[in-house]
Amino acid sequence: MFQIPRGTRDFIPEEMYKRRYLQQRIEEVFRRYGYGEVQTPTFETLELFTAKSGESILGEIYNFKDKGDRELALRPELTAPVIRCYIDRLQMAPKPLKLFYFGNCFRYDRPQKGRYREFWQAGCELLGTDTPEAHAELVALAYTILKNIGLQNIILHIGNLYVIHAMFAKLRITDTDKKDLLPFIDKSQFEDLFSALRAIGLSQTDTEQFIDILQTPDLEKVAAYVKGNEKAEAEIVRLRLILTLLKDSFGITDARVKIGIVRGLDYYKGLVFEIEAPVLGAEKQLCGGGDYELVNLFGGTPVPQAGFAIGFDRALLALETEQFTFPTPALDAFIVPVNETALPTAFTIARDLRSQGLTIDLDLLRRGIGKSLKYASTQQARYAIIIGPKELETGTVTLRNMQDGTQTTCTPNELSAQLLTSRS
Ligand code: HAM
Repeated sequence: MFQIPRGTRDFIPEEMYKRRYLQQRIEEVFRRYGYGEVQTPTFETLELFTAKSGESILGEIYNFKDKGDRELALRPELTAPVIRCYIDRLQMAPKPLKLFYFGNCFRYDRPQKGRYREFWQAGCELLGTDTPEAHAELVALAYTILKNIGLQNIILHIGNLYVIHAMFAKLRITDTDKKDLLPFIDKSQFEDLFSALRAIGLSQTDTEQFIDILQTPDLEKVAAYVKGNEKAEAEIVRLRLILTLLKDSFGITDARVKIGIVRGLDYYKGLVFEIEAPVLGAEKQLCGGGDYELVNLFGGTPVPQAGFAIGFDRALLALETEQFTFPTPALDAFIVPVNETALPTAFTIARDLRSQGLTIDLDLLRRGIGKSLKYASTQQARYAIIIGPKELETGTVTLRNMQDGTQTTCTPNELSAQLLTSRS
């Protein structure tokens, strides 16, 4: 027996039905906000991903050499590929440029519930604007998508990296120490952060205050802490404006400030935000994004860039955990040719109804009426169309309502109208 590779999954029809339904719901919202879809290759040159993050990212990446000795990598995310494509094909496009994507990503993560080695992201990149209203619309889009698919309980946190850097500067923390400290902040490991800050010589009061500011939802408290740092003050004004826009123009009243959001990827600059679903426990982060800088690094003409990605598998998991009722696939009708003679008529009727957009299946096992009706029930058929000798003789069919068992007789021509009107 062959085993499926660790951290990957097969999806059987009932799972694919849910996944496609959810994918459609998400894509719909991207389009409504004026985004156009892009698709990039599943693998890229390895350098595309190491250019910013350096060799340290190699541990998390599926990379390999192809037969031509090229260093390639399965994409761990889609931002770098989309920016590569933008520089290649879209730099001259009118701005702002709104691009969205849906695709699989690969990370050499330790698999567990909600964490896979192959997973899917639905995300977007916004190029050519960094006005507060552009950023507010971006955050609102992420939030709206997750609400629109039916999630009840999500939490939106917004932070700003310039402000964190100002906090480090205030305490004169060196770049080297900063590198060691950021992972603790990223993972909200505040006890470890406390020890690390004390170890580099910070007083207990300074350490406690620093950690408090990282976690406080009170933007004014943060503003007071970084007062005097011009860049941070300007970013706080922006953040205040974004929060006001979210509340007043997008109706999002529960956005929370969290300066301690640093995001794992190395390319972010100012705004950063994350949305979590507490119902998911350990792997609760559903979405992450912010504004970043990759275009210059990849040789393009400088332009503002921002975006986010939603973990599609986690969004689905969160909906399932919240007991969301997904629509189920159903057949409009299952046709039962009672004997071999009825087969040609059965196929003609099936062809005609299918061509009118109805979902039709028919018995291909030559089993009796009883077994066929049982099978039709397992397929959630709304109706069964029974064609036997009597029906052939009179040029009619028997239409059986599978829900209440009632039967009527009609001509094949009347079928589609009957099936369509009873659909809703
Ligand atoms: P990210 O936070 O690394 O951001 O990933 C986005 C989302 O993908 C996460 O919030 C999480 O839901 C999901 N995710 C990440 N790793 C896994 C995994 N191993 N299994 C299942 N789901 C996972 C980015 O990738 C950025 N490119 C987002 C972005 C777009 N920033 C700007 N534009």
